[in-house]
Amino acid sequence: MSQTANFQRSTWSSRWAFILVTIGSAVGLGNIWKFPYMAGSQGGSAFVLVYLVCVLLIGLPLLMAEIMIGRRGRGNPVSAMLKVAEEGGRCSGWGLVGWVGIVGALLILSFYSVVAGWIVDYLFKALSGLRLENAEAAANRFKALLADPLQMMLCHTLFLALTVGVVARGVIAGIEVANRIMMPGLFLILALLTVWGGIAGDMPAAWDFMFAFKPEAITPAVILAAVGHAFFSLSLGMGAIMAYGSYLDRQSSIAGTSLWVALAGTLVGVLAGLAIFSLTFAYGLEPAAGPGLILQALPLAFSHMPGGQWFGVFFFLLVLFAAWTSAISLLEPFVAWLTERMRLRRPVAAWGTGLAVWWLGIGVCLSFNRWSGHTLFGLNLFELLDFMTSRIMMPLSGLAIAIFVGWIMTRAQVLDEMQLSGLPFKAWYLVLRYLAPLGILLVFAHALGWLAWLGWLA
Ligand code: PFF
Repeated sequence: MSQTANFQRSTWSSRWAFILVTIGSAVGLGNIWKFPYMAGSQGGSAFVLVYLVCVLLIGLPLLMAEIMIGRRGRGNPVSAMLKVAEEGGRCSGWGLVGWVGIVGALLILSFYSVVAGWIVDYLFKALSGLRLENAEAAANRFKALLADPLQMMLCHTLFLALTVGVVARGVIAGIEVANRIMMPGLFLILALLTVWGGIAGDMPAAWDFMFAFKPEAITPAVILAAVGHAFFSLSLGMGAIMAYGSYLDRQSSIAGTSLWVALAGTLVGVLAGLAIFSLTFAYGLEPAAGPGLILQALPLAFSHMPGGQWFGVFFFLLVLFAAWTSAISLLEPFVAWLTERMRLRRPVAAWGTGLAVWWLGIGVCLSFNRWSGHTLFGLNLFELLDFMTSRIMMPLSGLAIAIFVGWIMTRAQVLDEMQLSGLPFKAWYLVLRYLAPLGILLVFAHALGWLAWLGWLA
């Protein structure tokens, strides 16, 4: 009765391969583009501190839960949820949670690919020796890109084609191989840039900004932003981790591998933040510059520092690798469903899905210029997709996963799959049953403005 009964599934070639691809999914634009500007605008060290606590208290337990469901169900997120629910004698409606994940992942991919396209554009510009005189020139350069739909479409198309090309080649020959090449490259470049940033920039100021203990800056708004970001940066709730978990062998320890992923993901964010802020401070730029931080402040710093052109090239290459390996994990869940459930050949499934995402991405490119006047609830298409996914679908799906593992799966199922006992098991199970749902509900309420409405955050 299983949807994947006689379907030969791939398995990662080792536990380390799984760790690598999952870090590849987690480390992306979220860590390198979003983390620094969120930290910059949300009180610096206060945000970093709360974010680290959130990763440990909610992110890590949910990461373990998602991997466990994927591996138990040995299928794409929809059939994995369904199979695990049915195995425990529960309602098959839980398959719906898998749907929220795989559709949400495609919606994210449509705008993720456009933002990654900006990185492609800046990489080309860095290669051809972009020089910016002052902050105004940097801002104008970014504005010019947003006003040029054709250039954005071109870069979006290129980035998406790279992503689809990898997924079309398969789980091992495509996804694993791409990560095995890109991830070591990413770590190497990051180490290089952090050292270089420390020499050329103001590392003590960056360190202070990110880690000085300022408890008074921790406000409810900072906490809620940090929980939301912990979710996004660990790729939670969108089926990506569940899909990757479904290719994990039975011998690997879920807790051990998850710990590695959470640690490495956080470390990359912190190192990227240090490199970025040490330049930001050394060149007198504004850390709270918002989404434009790495596309305006940094290129300006690159234009004025010795060897800045190459620093820029390496930096944008690093971001490109990070975005590429994450985008792959956003596409895989739906492609897995098409190949397993609809029996489509992988290349057909990947390119077909890619085409649909591409169309939506074209709309996103236009939402920054020609269609900027077309809004729904005051949001343009880009803002709407971002809001729907990171503020509604992600927390909702995360909440459902925590409840599913904590309350719906039988304890015997959970114990059998986790192979964890004693205090670690108890702590993890307790977090999933109580703390995670409560934390997520708070984020959700905040996202929909309920807390603000109640005057809590006034
Ligand atoms: N974790 C990725 C990042 O930080 O950029 C984004 C992401 C990937 C979110 C995969 C969700 C997902 F399923």
